[in-house]
Amino acid sequence: MQDKSNTWSGRFNEPVAELVKRYTASVAFDRRLAECDIQGSLAHARMLGAQGIIPREDVAAIERGLNDILEEIRTGHFAWQLDLEDVHLNIEKRLTEKIGDAGKRLHTGRSRNDQVATDIRLWLRATTDDVLSRIHALQLAIVDLAEQHVDTVMPGFTHLQVAQPVTLGHHLLAYFEMLKRDAGRFADARKRINRLPLGAAALAGTSYPIDREHVARELGFDGVCENSLDAVSDRDFAIEFTAAAALLMTHLSRFSEELILWISPRFGFIDIADRFCTGSSIMPQKKNPDVPELVRGKTGRVNGHLLALLTLMKAQPLAYNKDNQEDKEPLFDTTDTLLATLEIYADMLRGITVNKDAMRRAATEGFATATDFADYLVKKGLPFRDAHEAVARAVRHAEDAGCDLADLDLTVLQGFSPLVESDVYSVLTLEGSLASRNHIGGTAPQQVRAAVTQARIYLSSIA
Ligand code: ARG
Repeated sequence: MQDKSNTWSGRFNEPVAELVKRYTASVAFDRRLAECDIQGSLAHARMLGAQGIIPREDVAAIERGLNDILEEIRTGHFAWQLDLEDVHLNIEKRLTEKIGDAGKRLHTGRSRNDQVATDIRLWLRATTDDVLSRIHALQLAIVDLAEQHVDTVMPGFTHLQVAQPVTLGHHLLAYFEMLKRDAGRFADARKRINRLPLGAAALAGTSYPIDREHVARELGFDGVCENSLDAVSDRDFAIEFTAAAALLMTHLSRFSEELILWISPRFGFIDIADRFCTGSSIMPQKKNPDVPELVRGKTGRVNGHLLALLTLMKAQPLAYNKDNQEDKEPLFDTTDTLLATLEIYADMLRGITVNKDAMRRAATEGFATATDFADYLVKKGLPFRDAHEAVARAVRHAEDAGCDLADLDLTVLQGFSPLVESDVYSVLTLEGSLASRNHIGGTAPQQVRAAVTQARIYLSSIA
């Protein structure tokens, strides 16, 4: 009657119900942790051997057995069993099948609670490194595109209305800055990911003479989790990672929103290579920017994962609770979404062509140099508020006349302020406006060129 194959069957009078097995099993998704689980077990076993807690021969057998299992998993020959609940018990059972009693000694001084926390941290550390290198590649694609457009004029917007001329290079480098902060957040989160829970055992530590520092060193952790209760129950690191991911996705969602507008025929600022778009099954003329639209859409799902993880943790008493098993799917889906998005984005940016004429035309259509005109009058001695008023009247006049400020005759402009002289036209042109914003962080081509250089120095410093 008792299912003797079950790890804890000695304690129970009846086998676990089939439905409950299916409900509680995590092996379908946590098998992704298999390599990290083996890596953690190898370090644990070697420490047990070095401390004389298990015999050296057993350590050798465990090493051999786990390496064989690793091979079985990599080649797709490992028979995962739902009955064995999770990745940890599947691997341990197989190890015992292969090497007998030595396999049963592996779990000495350890619990699945500190084991799983270790596995996730190992896995997330590697994933964070992957994220960081993909952010880097995306930043490089942005800088390359920005460099081609240090003096390409486009309208800068506020309220999605033409505000002042900017260069496309400058606009693109705004996203470079966002990604730089994103990289900083992931690098910072990595410090707190990279701590070893093993040794906390179930929750209170263990009575064996373990050497946690030894295991930490072998696994490349910066140190151990200082409190055993915290070690097994902490998932802050997963939340921090997901928060950083949500913010990064939010940046790319904003970028996507702009690309979607820019590619629409109403703007016509850019074209995206066909391989990133699809057509319509009914409207033959359509070319839809699916990739940026999906990036915008997938941001919602990553934001959702962040909320799921926060909610998962909010009412858990110390220490481990089975709730924690629910950390994996949101985390895995976050990383899958993020890594794919970063990769496709870098690729897509290299497939963008810019319609400089359309950008320039748009910049001349919304009185983008009106502020420059006001600043010109201020420099001639008029208080800013009066200058603002004079230029507002000039704009209304130009609007009625259906032309740009720069198209108005000198005498007409002088009608709005006697301070106007013929040199006014140099500030009313787009190039004049751009060149005048020549300070750190400004849009003057000279500054954008300098910003590109700085960006490249930054990228090679962290490569
Ligand atoms: N599959 C479990 C998880 O992901 C492993 C830890 C199980 N621990 C326990 N006490 N049931 O959290």
